Amino acid sequence: MDRLETLADYERRAETGGGEARQRRQHDAGRIDLFFDPGTFREIDKLVTHRCRDFGMETQLVPGDGVVAGHGEVEGRLVYAFAQDFTVFGGSLSETNAAKIVKIMDLAMKNGAPVVGLNDSGGARIQEGVASLAGYADIFLRNTLASGVIPQLSAIMGPCAGGAVYSPAITDFTVMVEGTSYMFVTGPDVIRTVTHEEVTKDELGGAMTHNAKSGAAHFAVPTDKDCLGLLRLLLGYLPSNNLDDPPRIETADPIDREDPQLDALVPESPNQPYDMLDLIRAVGDDGDFLEVHRHFAPNIVVGFARFGGQPVGVVANQPAHLAGALDIDASIKGARFVRFCDAFNLPLVTFEDVPVQEYGGIIKHGAKLLYAFAEATVPKVTVVARKAYGGAYCVMASKHIRTDVNLAWPTAEVAVMGPEGAVNILYKRELDAAEDPEALRASKVQEFRDKLANPFVAAGRGFLDEVIAPRTTRPRIIAALRSLDGKRDRNPPKKHGNIPL
Ligand code: HXC
Repeated sequence: MDRLETLADYERRAETGGGEARQRRQHDAGRIDLFFDPGTFREIDKLVTHRCRDFGMETQLVPGDGVVAGHGEVEGRLVYAFAQDFTVFGGSLSETNAAKIVKIMDLAMKNGAPVVGLNDSGGARIQEGVASLAGYADIFLRNTLASGVIPQLSAIMGPCAGGAVYSPAITDFTVMVEGTSYMFVTGPDVIRTVTHEEVTKDELGGAMTHNAKSGAAHFAVPTDKDCLGLLRLLLGYLPSNNLDDPPRIETADPIDREDPQLDALVPESPNQPYDMLDLIRAVGDDGDFLEVHRHFAPNIVVGFARFGGQPVGVVANQPAHLAGALDIDASIKGARFVRFCDAFNLPLVTFEDVPVQEYGGIIKHGAKLLYAFAEATVPKVTVVARKAYGGAYCVMASKHIRTDVNLAWPTAEVAVMGPEGAVNILYKRELDAAEDPEALRASKVQEFRDKLANPFVAAGRGFLDEVIAPRTTRPRIIAALRSLDGKRDRNPPKKHGNIPL
């Protein structure tokens, strides 16, 4: 056989491996092709098969062993990816297909490129025992070492269990496809056998269970195609690695664009809600905002936007849900996002309107968000739209925890607590003794509001750099970000901190 014939034979075996295997490979190869820029994907290890010789496995050899791995381009940038094929032993992870994933993860680390995992797997291959567990542990180690070095994105594109959900849990962002994807430590059948409990796939691990309840997933999308499109969109905001800057793009949205409608965004009554998304969309480039974790803890909003073409991470209280209070889930959600942005050189733009913090576990969990903001050394810009009360004032990227530019709208209220709460504590005795307690309360609330619940006291101390007209918020943020472009800051040398987990 001459050399070209040998090559042709190799291609044939890799592509088909027999009629049925060809069909099996189509499934995940199709997803990979949809994900990458056309014609850019280069596959590795097409001929790898498993080495299991038990349970009749020796006769069931499929080239590639149920995972497609390699690299390609997304908008012209290098990205590594793997895709598991559920039609090959439930997409389960064997010793040898784990080695393929490990190989591309190591290459991605050396070359400073993101890794994207398209998970569709029942977890460790049961027939292989500890060899497949070892394969997952090898992947978990690399997920951990790569964390903060290269972006790692996970898609859940079928019923996934065991390691096929634990590995995504270590990665930065997880996307689930509604109605077809599931995340379980183990599936409903195994649960029925072990605990005799009947639970549906959706209740146990459907897209909304993990997007809205557990928070293990960050996005829910209707179809496979949307999922792959979203991964591409997300990568567009991210640098390839922690030493690069996020990619800037040209924008036709003027950097000096003012928005007069913002002057009327905050309602007259301090207890009336408004939608913080209106503010974010009004000030970012072209009204674009890629919201992350939309269904989880909606009282805080996090996501990616661009200002003057520069990608940033946005963190904002949402007065339209629970008055924007910082509860446990909101703190955890915010903290993880802040740490991601800090690791990958994404400036943080914070919009604040938060009443006093909620109780019940908030001491420990609220401290996560405080720690994350304080530790972050990327450019930090904060705009106080309305309430900045109590601990929440300190937490939400205040000047005191190294925020570079702190702006406030005239509607800002910066105080230890809201006027009503403060008056009830400070004038308790007078109110109890008063003939007309309501009139006294109203006058004291007004006095408190005039004296303390405004931005001018904080501005007088330099804790707020400037009080700005709401309409000028976009140009002011862009100017702030530009002034911080060369920012260099660092934390004291240490092995690592001890964030209150
Ligand atoms: C080998 C597997 C498999 C596995 C599924 N299959 N999971 N083969 N190893 N882990 C095979 C099935 O035998 C079946 O083969 C085919 O894949 C489809 O599986 P079904 O059960 O028919 O599909 P479905 O009803 O959709 O259920 C999918 C599932 C379920 C929910 C994923 O298969 C399941 O619960 N699997 C076991 C999950 C699990 O406990 N995995 C180990 C976790 S331990 P045929 O030939 O019939 O088509 C782990 C280690 C790391 O991963 C853990 C770290 C924490």
